[in-house]
Amino acid sequence: MDTVGRIERALHAALDLAEGTGSPPRLAEAMRHAVFPQGARVRPRLCLAVAGACGSDDQALPDAAAAAIELLHCASLVHDDLPCFDDAATRRGKPSVHRAFGEPLAVLAGDALIVLAFQAVAQVACAPQRIVPLTLVIARSVGMPAGIVAGQAWECEPKADLREYHRAKTGSLFSAAAVAGAVAAGASPDGWRQLGETLGEAYQVADDLRDAASDEDEIGKPTARDAALGRPSVVAALGIPGTVAHLERLVARAIDAIPPCARADELRALIASEARRLMPRRLARSAA
Ligand code: IPE
Ligand code: IPE
Ligand code: MG
Ligand code: MG
Repeated sequence: MDTVGRIERALHAALDLAEGTGSPPRLAEAMRHAVFPQGARVRPRLCLAVAGACGSDDQALPDAAAAAIELLHCASLVHDDLPCFDDAATRRGKPSVHRAFGEPLAVLAGDALIVLAFQAVAQVACAPQRIVPLTLVIARSVGMPAGIVAGQAWECEPKADLREYHRAKTGSLFSAAAVAGAVAAGASPDGWRQLGETLGEAYQVADDLRDAASDEDEIGKPTARDAALGRPSVVAALGIPGTVAHLERLVARAIDAIPPCARADELRALIASEARRLMPRRLARSAA
């Protein structure tokens, strides 16, 4: 089975855990709406690429780790779209969860996906000695003091350092995806955190660029939100040409940060294809 097939299978298995006889059907539907159909699945693909590069002996734990990372990402998007954060009507080309199911179920769907992520990892029967370090890596990437929650909280402070804000909001889960891939494979995390951090920084720079230079049809979510909401953004700091140049440097740095490993080619290809996909169409056309 290919990587995307493994990710989708692990996500369906996790969602099945959350649905039993007597569970509230609309919450179950809201959770599925948040996870399927897929977005780019870039974080779980990174996790499995690193596990493969580390010579993973078993698929069960890397697959569960990849699913957990994606569930946490989906939960963060559900909460990020709420009226009290970015008030976004669309996500992945369809109504955001709060628009489709209402705010109470969107809050609960995000909460339930966060809990489900940890359940998906904890219930894997093989390699129990890897589960505690894996859980810690994943937990740190979403909580306080430096995970997604901390990153989102910088929006509530009068002053925020842009890199710190991005590192917590986006970089933390990319680092966790890379390190979790290594830990789930029973390998040393050395070197993988640096790769994940650089990729996370590049990804958030690309997201700021798409917010400023794409339209909703192209990316499936509202654009021009950073300026409208007064969010710190790389485009506000560097302008569009400066942001494109910064992004290209970060992509090159990420490729250089791949530690020596058996399947470096696969990782290089993943980074290069994401870099092409993330470039707003009109900028890609003007560069051609
Ligand atoms: C969006 O992430 C939020 C950011 C941190 C930039 P993605 O661009 O990976 O969203 P999906 O999963 O493909 O929808
Ligand atoms: C969302 O950040 C990333 C999270 C960690 C929740 P943004 O608000 O910048 O991302 P989009 O543009 O809505 O996907
Ligand atoms: Mg936001
Ligand atoms: Mg947002």
